[in-house]
Amino acid sequence: MSSVCIIADKNLSRLTMAGTELRKLALWVTILTLVQLGATQPAPRKNVLFLVSDDMRPEINSFLGPDFPTPIHPTMFTPNLDELAGRSLMLARSYVQQAVCSPSRTSLLTGRRPDTTHVYDLVKYFRHVGGNFTTIPQYFKQHGYMSVGMGKIFHPGHASGGDDPPSWSVPYYHAPSAKYWGPIGRRHSWLAVDESTERQHPLPDSETAQNAIETLRKVAPKAKSGEQPFFVAVGFHKPHLPFIFPEKFIQHYPESVIRLPDNQYAPVDMPPEAWSEYGELRHYSDIAKLNASGHINTTLPKDVVLQLRRAYYSALSYTDSLIGDVIGELKNLGLENNTIISFWGDHGWQLGEHGEWCKHTNFELATHAPMLVYVPGITDKGIKPEKLTEFVDLFPTLVEAAGLPLIPLCPKDSSKIEVCTEGQSMIPLARDPSAPWKQRVFSQYPRSYPVKEVMGYTMRTEKYRYTEWAKFNYKTYMPDWTSLAGVELYDHVTDDEENHNKANDPSYKKIRNTLSQQLHQGWRAALPNVRDNTLYFTPV
Ligand SMILES: *[C@@H]1O[C@H](CO)[C@@H](O)[C@H](O)[C@H]1NC(C)=O
Ligand SMILES: *[C@@H]1O[C@H](CO)[C@@H](O)[C@H](O)[C@H]1NC(C)=O
Ligand SMILES: *[C@@H]1O[C@H](CO)[C@@H](O)[C@H](O)[C@H]1NC(C)=O
Ligand SMILES: *[C@@H]1O[C@H](CO)[C@@H](O)[C@H](O)[C@H]1NC(C)=O
Repeated sequence: MSSVCIIADKNLSRLTMAGTELRKLALWVTILTLVQLGATQPAPRKNVLFLVSDDMRPEINSFLGPDFPTPIHPTMFTPNLDELAGRSLMLARSYVQQAVCSPSRTSLLTGRRPDTTHVYDLVKYFRHVGGNFTTIPQYFKQHGYMSVGMGKIFHPGHASGGDDPPSWSVPYYHAPSAKYWGPIGRRHSWLAVDESTERQHPLPDSETAQNAIETLRKVAPKAKSGEQPFFVAVGFHKPHLPFIFPEKFIQHYPESVIRLPDNQYAPVDMPPEAWSEYGELRHYSDIAKLNASGHINTTLPKDVVLQLRRAYYSALSYTDSLIGDVIGELKNLGLENNTIISFWGDHGWQLGEHGEWCKHTNFELATHAPMLVYVPGITDKGIKPEKLTEFVDLFPTLVEAAGLPLIPLCPKDSSKIEVCTEGQSMIPLARDPSAPWKQRVFSQYPRSYPVKEVMGYTMRTEKYRYTEWAKFNYKTYMPDWTSLAGVELYDHVTDDEENHNKANDPSYKKIRNTLSQQLHQGWRAALPNVRDNTLYFTPV
């Protein structure tokens, strides 16, 4: 409503200059516009359904193709995510800012990078160590939305002060059956659950989906009448370990289609800092008894690798099916044409490639994650820009898609600024996939072993992945680029699996120097220098 009034005012002032007659006419136009607005219902604002999955690599059928780096995969069974992708802005080359749960989620939810949130682990809470930053759900809540959260959105517990209370309008929901499945899950890295067990003890994500459906039914009437739009956030735990899923999903992955990765070895010339010993997987009782060391160039026994891959795919298809149930309810309620849907998985996952497991690295497989944004009226035909995007871009995108006041780019020190972002709205890409856009995207990962206090800064460009493991000062939150523990350069044109580190290859000397400079200049220097709303662009 306010934007219509502004347009009328603009017309008025422009016409004033043309003379008294026109001024009178313009006044009538303004009055008539206001009368009309008063007589009709205001158009309901767009709602947001915010879907999240844990540890989901972009191994979704509609994502397979040149953007998915490894050729080793079965055909995925993901009909619901495929359907959503077909009408979304499909970010096939989206990168997380740090490949582990809380740092990645905190960064996305605050629209700021780990060096600003100061969250690099699963313990620290950004409001204690970074600043009192406004989160995505909080921003919608502040603009009159009913903000409801359930499942895993923030990393639970201390890392979010208990699901970040300022973000939500009503008490947060966690699936009660997690209490039953928790202890079982510690014993099994994966488990196919039969129907009768599931009837007795529903899986937590199934309960979360059911709660999402009931929530949508509750918030729908006010959303449809225009009284109050909703922001409903639904966080699924799968396909995170333990891969526990309803038995029926394994049928989509017969044993005969599951293959071993073709690169069960660490990249040639990989510095040891790049490696993670995947303790997360090794602590499940069934894996622990195998005595796997987690060391470079070792991996799990062949049959275990195959089983884990099969179970991961099944757990992923289970998540897809729950997402379908929730989106289906949106349709039943007649809300699909007025609800923005975003979907993302918090980071990638290594399924035995390089002999590596879990996330906790700077490799492509850990930093590359799926993201979809459906904006009714804008993305309906499906848009697939071949651009590199980042998880910090989602906050300004949702804000622009919903028509809320745009949020400014953060200055260098934004610790005292509640609302700003270190990302860029992707709505210009939805309108024109060839719009000017950033050419480089950034992630990071800390290590304290084998060298103390090192931060691996990594950058993906069209052709390369370039990483420097620099000494890091946790007081100033600054790297020391003159003290490097390791450097990696992978040429994605010839080596999309990142099997050969070319950092010390003399024929890559020139490109290494360029990439190094670009990495040190950081994300600000990579921003597209063209932005129609220059107001929101603050140069370095
Ligand atoms: C954090 O920001 C919120 C929202 O602006 C405000 O209500 C709250 O008082 C702030 N808390 C602190 C500790 O500054
Ligand atoms: C791991 O194996 C690869 C391939 O055989 C080899 O090139 C590399 O040097 C090994 N890395 C280490 C640290 O042993
Ligand atoms: C693992 O180590 C334990 C204790 O040393 C030993 O009893 C067991 O046989 C080992 N298992 C395997 C699979 O090597
Ligand atoms: C939503 O939009 C689609 C395509 O424009 C249309 O077929 C459908 O009837 C609409 N649904 C509602 C509930 O308005």
